[in-house]
Amino acid sequence: MKIKHLFLALAAIAFIAVASFNVSVNAQEAKDGKTIFTEQKCDMCHSVNSLGIASKKKSGAIDLSNASVEGDAEFFAKYLKKETDLKGKKHPAQFKGGDEELRILSEWLTTLKSE
Ligand code: HEC
Repeated sequence: MKIKHLFLALAAIAFIAVASFNVSVNAQEAKDGKTIFTEQKCDMCHSVNSLGIASKKKSGAIDLSNASVEGDAEFFAKYLKKETDLKGKKHPAQFKGGDEELRILSEWLTTLKSE
């Protein structure tokens, strides 16, 4: 009987350990669009002046403060994977991150609106 209790206690501890590990992994994965934007080096070319993001080099690429006017999240996801074009041109850089990051980044672009 005692051994059974010990086993149950150990199982409970193991469960809590695994559960909290999962929570911390998920917390790490839940990046916001701004983080992905800089991690994916979009700021090599683009600034987002409305959020205080400066571009690292003066490539002349457009400021994205008002990017939302160009389309919805689905459009941005395709555009950044070079599957569709904007004003007759494909995006010069191919998105290198994962699908989930692309989804978050695309959603974030739809929130960029300057007054
Ligand atoms: C090598 C430079 C470069 C990089 C890196 C880059 N872009 Fe671009 N991007 C451009 C250029 C050039 C255009 C075409 C519009 C223009 O002339 O600025 C453009 C256009 C866009 C547009 C359409 C803007 C509009 O209103 O016409 C969006 C949105 C965009 N980029 C988002 C991104 C995101 C998000 C990333 C990072 C994953 C990224 N770009 C990385 C150069 C770049």
